[in-house]
Amino acid sequence: MEEKIQSIRNRAVSACRNVTNIQELQEVRVEFLGKKGELTALLRGMGQLSAKERPKVGQLVNELRNELEEVFRLREGVISQSAQAVKLAAETIDISLPGRKSAPGTYHPLTLALQEIKSVFISMGYQVVEGPEIETDYYNFEALNVPPDHPARDMQDTFYLSEQLLLRSQTSPVQIRTMEQQPAPVRIIAPGRVYRSDADVTHSPMFHQVEGLLVDRGITFADLKGTLQLFAEKMFGEGTQTRFRPSYFPFTEPSAEVDVSCIICRGSGCRVCSQTGWLEILGSGMVDPRVLTKVGYDPDQVSGFAFGMGIDRIAMLKYGISDIRLLFENDLRFLQQF
Ligand code: DAH
Repeated sequence: MEEKIQSIRNRAVSACRNVTNIQELQEVRVEFLGKKGELTALLRGMGQLSAKERPKVGQLVNELRNELEEVFRLREGVISQSAQAVKLAAETIDISLPGRKSAPGTYHPLTLALQEIKSVFISMGYQVVEGPEIETDYYNFEALNVPPDHPARDMQDTFYLSEQLLLRSQTSPVQIRTMEQQPAPVRIIAPGRVYRSDADVTHSPMFHQVEGLLVDRGITFADLKGTLQLFAEKMFGEGTQTRFRPSYFPFTEPSAEVDVSCIICRGSGCRVCSQTGWLEILGSGMVDPRVLTKVGYDPDQVSGFAFGMGIDRIAMLKYGISDIRLLFENDLRFLQQF
């Protein structure tokens, strides 16, 4: 009997040494200490022993049980410790590796141009306001003195969303929204995206404009000229000249297109200005009295001027960009130059 106990002990200890994970260890434990395990079987068979042997064997079996419990416990500790060590080793971070640098960003050329335009007008006391890109036919056209069959609608190829809704083709509707909401004096610029069905090297179906509007008592064309001359100098450098050419816009009367002396050749003639010495940069004029009347202003009391310029065009001129599509391709090799 004692030999049998000894053999169980030896086999249990060596089985225990051979297991490498907790699950195997549990199986070995059941094999020896479980309800159907070898030790239990031994105890069950004690009935056949003599009364003299029984207590002695009982004691040996109990001692072995305690010993094996301890052996399994220790083994469990060793296994889980080494599992932990393996896990930690796998998660080690090599802090001597050079880090991954995140490249500092740069401002988009359109953002840069707009920042400059804004700061010029803010310094003249203008407020910056915004309007919706999805507009109604009323704000984009009708309130700007462009009735339904007016040929001026053909000047701009508009994206219609429905009979009454469209993607605004200009930022001019923000003039109307602003005046509807406040009495004169008004002094605002309104930057934002505009949309027209048009695409080539200098036209994108989505581009950017800044609208300007000033309405007060006694405003004249001289105020418009002075304001835009100052803007041109601040934006394109001292000595920049402006030229006002008579033009037509439905919402201004009189209207003018404004050129600046070429910022590349300073007026002597080059490829950028097509040898003319001038660059067209914006449309402008005195707000048509009909527009003022529509928003409830009294044209006998107040007058004003308005202007609208393309930010994309100004950025392209300023930074020497020849293809408008470059502005929207998000190619980092292009953008990182600014
Ligand atoms: N909205 C015009 C366009 O997109 C630009 C413009 C011209 C705006 C004259 C004005 C203006 O405010 O007075 O072509």
